[in-house]
Amino acid sequence: MTLSPSVPAEQRSLNGHLFHVSKTPDKLRHLINDIARAAKYISYAIKTTEAGLAGSVNMFGEEQVKLDVLSDRIIQEHLNENRLVATYACEEHDAVIELSPDAPYSVVFDPLDGSSLVDANLAIGSIFGIYEGKEIIGRTPREQVAALYVLYGPRTLFVYSTGSGVHEFLLNDVGEFIILREHLGIGDNAKNFSPGNLRGIDETDGYRDVVESWLKQQMTLRYSGCLVADVHHIFSKGQGIFTFPASKKYPNGKLRHAFECGPFAFLAEQAGGAASDGSQDIMDIPLTAVGQRCPLIIGSKNEVARICSLLTAV
Ligand code: F6P
Ligand code: MN
Repeated sequence: MTLSPSVPAEQRSLNGHLFHVSKTPDKLRHLINDIARAAKYISYAIKTTEAGLAGSVNMFGEEQVKLDVLSDRIIQEHLNENRLVATYACEEHDAVIELSPDAPYSVVFDPLDGSSLVDANLAIGSIFGIYEGKEIIGRTPREQVAALYVLYGPRTLFVYSTGSGVHEFLLNDVGEFIILREHLGIGDNAKNFSPGNLRGIDETDGYRDVVESWLKQQMTLRYSGCLVADVHHIFSKGQGIFTFPASKKYPNGKLRHAFECGPFAFLAEQAGGAASDGSQDIMDIPLTAVGQRCPLIIGSKNEVARICSLLTAV
């Protein structure tokens, strides 16, 4: 892992890194820069917008907070401006939306993950996956050409991969994303655990055994309730495990395959980790619908494999 002072000056900004280090094709670089620009507006909006309900629900029947709606609009506007996006799919709409039919890319995104935590002032995030071409349904996460997330916490972080490692940037005071760490890696064994959907502990075969094994090994609990923050913890510490298995309430898990599980699976693999639904690599599970849900076990490789063998019900 390299810290920023050793990175040559022209490679320190997000754009410089995409250009010089990741050798990202120009159009994809422009698209990622536009997403980063949208993220800066969202970061600002989180600090300045009243945190209340918007009075509407998304396609999953979940109440939208004002910031959900605003973030969704900010991203749409940025994707629309550049004529690089043929279609997009996101948490707030139930169909794939067409923008510029002949454009080179399609984007899947969760505009504001963990938004119910806004009023508690906990960290929240945005998640993006980018595909070539206009089709989203029928693709697998392995076909993504880039995946990235933004974490709005005490500091705003931007973490991306275009297929050559996972790189982390910090939003500085003048509004530039500057390199923090290159080549984030996830070690094979976990010391931290992040257990989502514990309400299903007696409904999901093996989940109680999994949790008891973590407690017996005196592993460290790190769980916030925001997927982006909880999985970023794994990237940041270089080890860990996050689980959100199925349960009665969520027979296919709660997390959305297209814009939650898929992008994180791409990033985890790039960092040397793994992501599974319990029996299959998330990277190889086709997207069948915008709202498709998927159980998620993600993080350190050996721990993902161990948990999958204990969870027999998925
Ligand atoms: O987007 C779904 C999400 O908010 C994730 O960020 C988080 O991991 C999960 O839901 C938590 O779900 P619950 O609050 O139902 O346990
Ligand atoms: Mn979400």
